[in-house]
Amino acid sequence: MRFRSLFLLLTGVALLASLKPPPAFAQDGAATFKTKCSACHGAEGQGKIGPALKGTSLSADDIANLLTKGDDAKKPPHKKAMNGVSDADAKAVAEFVKTLK
Ligand code: HEC
Repeated sequence: MRFRSLFLLLTGVALLASLKPPPAFAQDGAATFKTKCSACHGAEGQGKIGPALKGTSLSADDIANLLTKGDDAKKPPHKKAMNGVSDADAKAVAEFVKTLK
């Protein structure tokens, strides 16, 4: 009887663990920054080919808009919307950029 309840308990725990939602990789701003921005803006946003982003005076919304809509007054790659950056990615990466100091 004791083994049976132990077995049930373990199955229950395993079941609960498997129900956890997968991590939201697409919304992970730090990961997006690393793969899509750091080559030009530096791993810490210190600037490289592109200007430094850490301590930027732009708001997270400005940054997200630049990525999803582009700005005709900017040089490439920001003249146009960036490829492969969804609205959710842009928002997450913009919030990540605002944490760089
Ligand atoms: C191919 C290189 C390149 C990549 C990749 C790139 N950028 Fe840029 N970025 C630039 C350049 C060059 C500028 C300057 C454009 C200008 O001022 O006309 C710039 C400007 C910016 C600006 C405006 C800075 C300011 O002070 O006005 C922001 C914000 C920005 N980038 C964010 C990002 C983010 C976030 C990513 C990743 C999703 C990214 N960039 C990817 C090259 C790049």
